[in-house]
Amino acid sequence: MSPAETVLAYHAATRHHFQRYARSAGRMDWANQPNPFRIYEGAECIPLPLPAADPGLAYAALYDTQGPPPRPFDSTALGSFLALSMGLSAWKQAGGERWPLRIHPSSGNLHPSECHLILPAADGLPGGIHHYSPYYHALFRRARAPVGTYLPLAAHLGGHGFLVAVSTIFWRESWKYGERAYRYCNLDAGHVAAALSLAARLHGWQWCCISGAGDDQIATLLGFDRTDWHPLEEELPDLVGWVAPAGEGPAFDPILRDERVQPFAGLSFHGRPNRLSREAVDWTIIREAHVAACKPASPALACHLPGDPVLYPPPPAPRAAAVIRQRRSAQAYDPDQRMPQDAFLAILDRTRPRAGVPPFDARILTPSVDLLVFVHRVREIPAGLYFFLRSGQAPERLRPSCRPEFLWEAVRPDFPLWLLRPGDCAREAMTLSCHQEIAADGAFALAMLAPLSSLVRERPYLYRHLHWECGQVGQVLYLEAEAHGLRGTGIGCFFDEPVNRLLGVDPEHLQSLYHFTIGYPLEDRRLQTLPAYHHLER
Ligand SMILES: Cc1cc2nc3c(=O)[nH]c(=O)nc-3n(C[C@H](O)[C@H](O)[C@H](O)COP(=O)(O)O)c2cc1C
Repeated sequence: MSPAETVLAYHAATRHHFQRYARSAGRMDWANQPNPFRIYEGAECIPLPLPAADPGLAYAALYDTQGPPPRPFDSTALGSFLALSMGLSAWKQAGGERWPLRIHPSSGNLHPSECHLILPAADGLPGGIHHYSPYYHALFRRARAPVGTYLPLAAHLGGHGFLVAVSTIFWRESWKYGERAYRYCNLDAGHVAAALSLAARLHGWQWCCISGAGDDQIATLLGFDRTDWHPLEEELPDLVGWVAPAGEGPAFDPILRDERVQPFAGLSFHGRPNRLSREAVDWTIIREAHVAACKPASPALACHLPGDPVLYPPPPAPRAAAVIRQRRSAQAYDPDQRMPQDAFLAILDRTRPRAGVPPFDARILTPSVDLLVFVHRVREIPAGLYFFLRSGQAPERLRPSCRPEFLWEAVRPDFPLWLLRPGDCAREAMTLSCHQEIAADGAFALAMLAPLSSLVRERPYLYRHLHWECGQVGQVLYLEAEAHGLRGTGIGCFFDEPVNRLLGVDPEHLQSLYHFTIGYPLEDRRLQTLPAYHHLER
């Protein structure tokens, strides 16, 4: 099989069907549950300051094309950036159990993504290659990066800044979800990418993806090829980005030249990765899909971001950091509440990629994910099925491949929201999302659709990029929901082909990669909340 066929076969094999879910262990092997926190044992630990006060930026300003003035790069600013992107957000407690939540969501709260930084020396910070531990809010220095290794790389990228990379441990996710876990790992990485972009903006910085980087190059930079992994617990590289004062990012060519990467191959890396579980299980289909979807070094990937005007601005009142910290997934919604129309339109508007606006200013790839929206309870917007063409594609391109009876009525002038079919679609949304009531009881639900087959046939690694884009959209939806007084939940469990049948679209043309729902949350009063870092005596 060609790599593209392997990747598409993975996707087909991991579909949920009404009669049969994708293959998993079928039970939770609690004794073997992977540790959600990676530690590089023996590496030098550099505690980061916990922010005494968060940046005061208004939430709406996150999405301005002009960011706030850049914070000087030092340990305080770095601690704040990481706390507001990769850090813990709270601990929950119920019935003798206590578990941490993080700034970014994760399927099953299993958190397969890890974060590494390549830093120059700065006030209070030794330079080098570090792993960020969200549990300790600390860096673990894995290697020193002598000036001769770091400076030529930094000079190519613009000189003043640092690198932040995201990696994944599949086993954390496959422990629970089996074969479908690879999809969730990639969705999670997209959430992380968006969390990094938004936290960078909060500090006047920009996280710009080095889209030409190859997986092997990232592995060399982070020393993954010289790390003594426990079997099946290795971290695999996903993305690397350059963080610099906002506005300066796109000035460099986002590629990594081998002569700038090679000096890192000679560095010694410290710290033994902690063992995550007693015995990891090999889900071979994931390994094979990942090998087929590995990204070689390439020229920068095309990333066209339109300059569409903002028609429905974000709410001005809340502080950005407060919204980021309070993000949670809803467990249940109040079906008696309807949301205002303007908030609905604003939430959709925020998912549109715009030049100079996070998180899509990370420039991972030209956006190509559109939203099929199930409107349930929005004032002045009739219940029904809608398309929101956030990617910028014209409805004429999609219309011929959908059911001929769809109306394609524009809801608002100059806004890419199209009514396909009026009528209650709550039951359909719930059924499609693995019968989860949250998809029916909220104000609206949606499915993220992408031309998966054609892009994967072009370049198999785009499988990951499309899932990352869905994760970015998901992170925006989570924050927008909070900012408007509602709450979101990502939905990785859905029936794949029935979404196609609903639309009448051939899976060769479009496939659903992620679902999402937003509404007024019902709180679970049995749960107690504890502060994020109450466990650290600092
Ligand atoms: C990719 C992805 C898929 C998810 N799928 C579901 C789902 O199908 N059903 C659900 O109730 N929650 C789902 N969630 C929400 C997670 O369970 C939630 O993020 C996690 O428990 C952590 O809680 P928090 O989001 O409140 O921090 C998903 C989250 C992500 C990121």
